[in-house]
Amino acid sequence: MAALQEAIGKFKGLSIAITGGAGFIGSHLTEKLLDTGARVAVIDTFLRGSKIEHLRDRKEFTVHNADVRDADAMDRILNGTDIVYHLAAVVGVEETQLAPYEVLDVEIRGTENVLNAAVKNRTKKIVFGSSSEVYGDTKEAMQEDARMAPKSTYAVTKLVGEEYCKAFKHKFGLDYTTLRYFNVYGPRQDERFVISRFIRKAKANETISIYGTGKQTRDFTHVDDAVNLTMLASILDEGNCQVFNLGTGKSTSINELALLILKTLDRKTLKPVYVEYDKTRPVEIEIFNRTADVTRATRLLQYKTAIKLEAGIKELCSLM
Ligand SMILES: NC(=O)c1ccc[n+]([C@@H]2O[C@H](COP(=O)([O-])OP(=O)(O)OC[C@H]3O[C@@H](n4cnc5c(N)ncnc54)[C@H](O)[C@@H]3O)[C@@H](O)[C@H]2O)c1
Repeated sequence: MAALQEAIGKFKGLSIAITGGAGFIGSHLTEKLLDTGARVAVIDTFLRGSKIEHLRDRKEFTVHNADVRDADAMDRILNGTDIVYHLAAVVGVEETQLAPYEVLDVEIRGTENVLNAAVKNRTKKIVFGSSSEVYGDTKEAMQEDARMAPKSTYAVTKLVGEEYCKAFKHKFGLDYTTLRYFNVYGPRQDERFVISRFIRKAKANETISIYGTGKQTRDFTHVDDAVNLTMLASILDEGNCQVFNLGTGKSTSINELALLILKTLDRKTLKPVYVEYDKTRPVEIEIFNRTADVTRATRLLQYKTAIKLEAGIKELCSLM
């Protein structure tokens, strides 16, 4: 944790832009960066509302209702920016299945615009929000240099974004850090995502639905850990032009997750039901095994995730 304290000091006075900053991860990152004394500009289309309303009165904070697909707006807003965190994306299995061209457009045109604007404005670094989805399905823990086998449009666009960052480094010398998030959860996440959905259902005494057998695994990472790792990876020299898995290294099946939530809320009699995959949730894009290999982040960033799933779930159950 000493590395984290030291890193936090380096953000003071920096000018930061966060695309997708009104979203779940972006709102937590915005808050932590403002606490360090950085100036923060959020760029968002508020697709799913705003998770930053509680920050509106903060000093050194500006909000731009702008689309990353608008190149002129990106050129204008990134003026004077030291670091841009590019997190804007169409997120969620159902959303991305229903609007694949929107996903392609936001991720590919949007990322290219943000990179071009960063170069024009001499931004020092882009931090790209990628996803563990780029790996596809693997039996082993996912290691950053493993073969990529994306299964969905969303995953392919993340891989394209990663390659764009490398190309811009090569062509224009723009530094980057790529972060592959693994199932981030925590306060303010909406019910498109499994943990929030299960907790809401259980609290309302409604049955939890599980796709398939429930044996599929995820590496659930608390948003506080994800944000700490994001900040470390983006400010330490060791993170420069690197790709990192942001996960815990521990996998949990959806069955285990459901049991944990039902136990925490004392709803053990509420048995989950199992449902078939469907058009909005096709089995073809399901990831059955997902665990992060966290060796690189642990070694280079000297940070190990601190919040155990049990503690994170307990906290969320009391907040929601
Ligand atoms: N939450 C996770 O578990 C997870 C896992 C892997 C990767 N990621 C990646 O991390 C990033 C943040 O995810 P999140 O969970 O906070 O999602 P989120 O949906 O809460 O946030 C995304 C934000 O992007 C904004 N946005 C969408 N299209 C935009 C556009 N064209 N221009 C500007 N803003 C736009 C949305 O309005 C939203 O506020 C995304 O890039 C996502 O792909 C998240």
